[in-house]
Amino acid sequence: MRGLIPDSFIDELLARVDIVDVIERRVPLKKAGREWTACCPFHNERTPSFYVSPAKQFFHCFGCGVSGSAIKFLMDFDRLEFPDAVEELAQTVGLTVPREGGRDAVPREDKTDLYTLLDDAASWYERELPRSAEAQAYCKKRGLDADTIKRFRIGWAPAGYDGVMKSLGNSDRRRELLDEAGMLATGERGKYDRFRERLMFPILDRRGRVIAFGGRVVQVAPSSGQAPPKYLNSPETPLFHKGRELFALWQVKQANANLLRIVVVEGYMDVIALHQAGLPIAVATLGTATTPEHTEVLFRAAPDVVFCFDGDRAGRAAAWKALESALPRLRDGRQAYFLFLPDGEDPDSLVRKEGKDGFEKRIREAMPLSEYFFNELSHDVEMGSLDGRARLAERARPLIAKLPDGAFRDLMAQELEKRSGARAMLQADPAAHRAVQRPTAVQRSLVRSAISLLLAQPGLADQVEKPYRFLRLDKPGVELLAELLDIARSRPGINSAMLVEHFAERPEYPSLQKLMATLSVGEPESQRMEFIEALERMEHQSLIQRRDFLSARRGELSDAEKAELRTLLPLREQTSTKA
Ligand code: UTP
Ligand code: MN
Repeated sequence: MRGLIPDSFIDELLARVDIVDVIERRVPLKKAGREWTACCPFHNERTPSFYVSPAKQFFHCFGCGVSGSAIKFLMDFDRLEFPDAVEELAQTVGLTVPREGGRDAVPREDKTDLYTLLDDAASWYERELPRSAEAQAYCKKRGLDADTIKRFRIGWAPAGYDGVMKSLGNSDRRRELLDEAGMLATGERGKYDRFRERLMFPILDRRGRVIAFGGRVVQVAPSSGQAPPKYLNSPETPLFHKGRELFALWQVKQANANLLRIVVVEGYMDVIALHQAGLPIAVATLGTATTPEHTEVLFRAAPDVVFCFDGDRAGRAAAWKALESALPRLRDGRQAYFLFLPDGEDPDSLVRKEGKDGFEKRIREAMPLSEYFFNELSHDVEMGSLDGRARLAERARPLIAKLPDGAFRDLMAQELEKRSGARAMLQADPAAHRAVQRPTAVQRSLVRSAISLLLAQPGLADQVEKPYRFLRLDKPGVELLAELLDIARSRPGINSAMLVEHFAERPEYPSLQKLMATLSVGEPESQRMEFIEALERMEHQSLIQRRDFLSARRGELSDAEKAELRTLLPLREQTSTKA
């Protein structure tokens, strides 16, 4: 997604906004020397360990370790996805986010019209609700109270084929927009209202804007003819991608400042019943299976995600799909649980029967992913036999390999080993591979200190000429350093946060952020000397590497190589620490 927003725009944006402003608007800051400080909004604390640096345009909490640019702050604090955070920030400084090609069918200014139109439609349906006895009776039957109706903006699409078109489509342009927003259907005689005689549930995006609707019939379909679907959802539109959106996520975020657990259920009415019962932690996918995108959004919202399914066959199948989509997202600190409901019940019926406490208890007792994982994989294998255990291992390995590196993956591999008796060697395990060629601490710290000095003072890039001579050094991080230098050289005046932000979707990003956060504010001149010295020492080491390489092959060298080796022989192993 980031690819659609040009890097140059991110640079410009981060140059225009002031991180202190951005954060101050959400968290009151106190001046502390050259920086600003507050109690960290991301963990509970009584004494401030959260710092904002205007010079680095960076925030960092010494308590819980979060850190980053203004964009990262918005992502974490407002729980926005990267493009949304960029958009939000851009609006505050009056910039329009340019897109490099991409999925947007209409230019951005037209999308504002789409949002407005959909909001108008939601209001229109809301006003229709009290005017329909049928709708009122249905709400009563389902036990929806007035506050819930208001909170979810539940409305009514009346009978007839042009209610929405007449009220909202009063120009060609607006009819076009209605169509683009998915509000119209096309028949032999042209366009007409897609939603008719349905209870309407607006679907909001992560910023609370109406982007689509779901509508439920309130009557049992007549036996003759084709029965209309119970629920009808808006089609995919420029604003609505159902593989990404979750019903009621906005309401969940509004109700919880600090959400520890989020519950995913199957239906609109399930979500609404749980919220009304005092559990405003439920969301639903919109008539689709849980996608990996959903899972990422869920884990951004809360560290614990509980997937709730019917206990029937379809429910089990859906649960396994959800598990598969969750595996690659299960970084340490994130946990997934599975809750299976008794036959014939859904969260709506259960919470009405058992109340808030009863349902909460079920949530608390939900099955951890690991347990569900092994139960499911071993339920049809003979665990007493070697064959059966081998089969378990065979099934589990590729799935465990999908987990990100970390303690949880290790634990799952151990558990598999215990259960199957087989060594759970993960093929092509990148962690194991890396461990073998880990450089010595000294060498690593040299490259690393050069990188962190450059991060502290991107202007240092001016001190280095191309070609970079240290590039010959065969050590991890060298390429990254060169890349950072290239970026910093091509953008004079770039600040630390902007530099790091160039790596936002790269695997190096977390380590760069960590380095950035641990920078000490040093004296610029001594940092400059240290930086130059680090580069010189890297170059020196590369020469030693070259010398050792050549001497090892003494017998087979060309004349040129022999000459090169002679110039390298006087090199001393240890460079002095002072340049
Ligand atoms: P259910 O049929 O289980 O409905 O569909 P429900 O949520 O229990 O609804 P009520 O209680 O009968 O009102 C679960 C979800 O599947 C999607 C909807 O998102 C629904 O909430 N669905 C269902 C559709 O998209 N279309 C349908 O025709 C049926
Ligand atoms: Mn139901």
